[in-house]
Amino acid sequence: MSSTFQLVDVLAAPRCRHLSSRIHLPKHVVSASLRPCLRGLSSLEERTWTCKLREKALRTTKRERYTSASDGHTCIRCEQNLAEQGRLLEFINAHNVTSGLSVEALLNGIGQKGSSAPSSFNAPVENALEKEAWDLLREAVVTYCGEPVGTIAAKDPTDPNPLNYDQVFIRDFIPSAVAFLLKGETEIVRNFLLHTLQLQSWEKTVDCYSPGQGLMPASFKVRTVHIDGNEENGTEEILDPDFGEAAIGRVAPVDSGLWWIILLRAYGKCTGDKSVQERVDVQTGIKMILKVCLADGFDMFPTLLVTDGSCMIDRRMGIHGHPLEIQALFYHALRCAREILLPEEGAQDLIRQINSRLAALSFHIQEYYWLDIVKLNEIYRYKTEEYSTEAVNKFNIYPEQVSQWLLDWLPESGGYFIGNLQPAHMDFRWFTLGNMWSICGGLATPKQSENILRLVESKWQDLVATMPIKICFPALTDEEWRIITGADPKNTAWSYHNGGSWPTLLWQFTVACIKMNRADLAERAVEIAEKRLSRDRWPEYYDTKKGRFIGKQARLYQTWSIAGFLTAKLMLKNPNAASWLTCDEDETYAIFREANPQKRKFKASPKIFVV
Ligand code: GLC
Repeated sequence: MSSTFQLVDVLAAPRCRHLSSRIHLPKHVVSASLRPCLRGLSSLEERTWTCKLREKALRTTKRERYTSASDGHTCIRCEQNLAEQGRLLEFINAHNVTSGLSVEALLNGIGQKGSSAPSSFNAPVENALEKEAWDLLREAVVTYCGEPVGTIAAKDPTDPNPLNYDQVFIRDFIPSAVAFLLKGETEIVRNFLLHTLQLQSWEKTVDCYSPGQGLMPASFKVRTVHIDGNEENGTEEILDPDFGEAAIGRVAPVDSGLWWIILLRAYGKCTGDKSVQERVDVQTGIKMILKVCLADGFDMFPTLLVTDGSCMIDRRMGIHGHPLEIQALFYHALRCAREILLPEEGAQDLIRQINSRLAALSFHIQEYYWLDIVKLNEIYRYKTEEYSTEAVNKFNIYPEQVSQWLLDWLPESGGYFIGNLQPAHMDFRWFTLGNMWSICGGLATPKQSENILRLVESKWQDLVATMPIKICFPALTDEEWRIITGADPKNTAWSYHNGGSWPTLLWQFTVACIKMNRADLAERAVEIAEKRLSRDRWPEYYDTKKGRFIGKQARLYQTWSIAGFLTAKLMLKNPNAASWLTCDEDETYAIFREANPQKRKFKASPKIFVV
C-alpha cells in the first residue's frame, strides 16, 4: 500500500531559539481546493471555517527537528495526513456549507444549527453573582486566529505588573473548561485541547535545559509577531509555550499532561463527541504523556517521583518526592487514558502497563498514605530498624516525627491521605487537592472517600472557616518555614501555598462531595464563598488561619477563583455532570482486596500486579 503521507514544512518555525519553544500554526495548510466550498459565506464565517479546516487538516503524525540550511535556526516540520484532507473535502461537499450553519456542529457531525450544548444540560437560572462571574470569565478568554483557546490566569485592570499571570495556564484553565462545558459552550475546550497538544514537547536535549518528551507546558501565551521576522511581511499570531524555563524557580509542570488527559475524557463524556480523542495526533499525545510517566527510573515505588513545585504548589514547599497531588492526578489520568486509548496494534502492551501501575499505585496509596486514629496509634508505637521483607514499619519511620499538632488534631472518626511518603519521612500535612482528587479519580476506596469528607466536616473550622478551602494544613512556621521553603517571603505561615485558603479548590471539593452524596457540604462551602468573593474582587487566595484576609500578594480577578466558583455552582445544579470528572473504584483492585481482606502486603499474582 502506498503511503498517504507527505513531508511538508507546515510547522517550520525559523525563529526558534530553543527546541520547540516557538511553534506556530501555519496559515497555508488548508489547500486552495477547499476554498471554493466556502464561497457565499460572510467574511467572519469564512474566517471561522478556514481556522477550523486548518486545524482539522493538521492531523500530524510525525514531527521532526531540523536545522535550516539558510540561517542555521532550529525548525520543525511535520508529516501531514493528506488522506484526512481528502476526507474533509468530501465531508464539506456532502454537507452543503451555507450561511448561518454552526461550524462546530457540522464538524462534530451533529449537523444542526446552533450550539453543540450537551442535550442533558438544563440551563439553570443565573443570579446576579453568577452573571458577574460569567462576564469576568468571558473577559478572560484568549483568542488565537479569531478562535477562543483558553483563559488567562488573572485579569486585574489595575495591576501594572502581571508577570506571567497574563498567560493561559493549563491547570488554571481546567475549571474554566468545566464551566464552559456545563454551559454547553464546548468549542473553547476543544480548541484548547488541540492547540496545547501542538505545544507538547517531543524531543529531549539535555544540554539546553529543554523539557522531556511528552511534557505539556505549564502555560502559553498568544503573541503577535512579524511573519518570518520581517516587518514588511505583516504579522501573525503564534503560541508561545512555557515549560517552566521562564517560570519562577524553573519548575517543570508534571501535572499539565495529567490534567490534559483528564479534560480530554471529560470533553468526550460531556459532548458525546469521540472524534477528538480518536484523532491520530491526540492518541499519540496521550501515549507520549504516558510514556514519560511510565518510564523506568531508579525509583522502587509505583508512585511518581517528582521535584518540588511540580504541580499547583509551584514553589519550594517540601513536597518533592512522591506528593499526593501528583499521585492522585496520575492515577486518574491513567484511568482516563485506559478508557480512551483505541485498542489498536501496539496499545495492548501499554494497557497492560497501565493496569499493573493502577493496581500497584492504588495499593500503595491506600495502604501507606492512609492516616486515621488507628493507623496513627500504630505509627506512634512503631519499632524501627527492621531489616526484612516482612517489616511492619517498611519505610523506617521514627515515631518521634509524629508532631504534637497531629496527636491533638486527628479526630476519632474520619481520616485522610498524608502529603508524601519517603524513606524515614512521612509528611503528615493535609493537602486538599490531593485528597479531593483521590476521591474523584477513585484512588481512595469508597470507605476512605467517606472518611476524608467526614474529616473535612469535623475539621471545618480549620479547613474551611471563613473561606473555602485551605490548600494545606497546618502551615510551616519559624525554623521549619526557613528550612523547608528556603525562607520564601511569599510562603510565610498561613499565606499563599503555606496554609493559605484558595477559592478555586471549591470546584474540586464540590465534585468530590457530589460523588460521595455529600452535596450538603459543598453547598455550605459555596454559601460561605459567595458572601465574599465578589466584594473582595475574586482574589487568588486568602491569608491567616481562618482565611479572613485577602492574601498579601494575591492577584485580584483571578480567573480560576471565578471559574472555580461558577463550576461549583453549576455542578450543584447539574450533579450528573460530576461523572465527567470522576471514576468509580477500579474493579480489578476491588476484587483483589475483597478476596484478601487481611493482606497488608502486596503479593498478588505477579502477572497482574507486579510493575
Ligand atoms: C501560582 C499557582 C499556580 C498557578 C499560577 C497561575 O503560581 O501556584 O498553581 O497555576 O499561579 O495562576
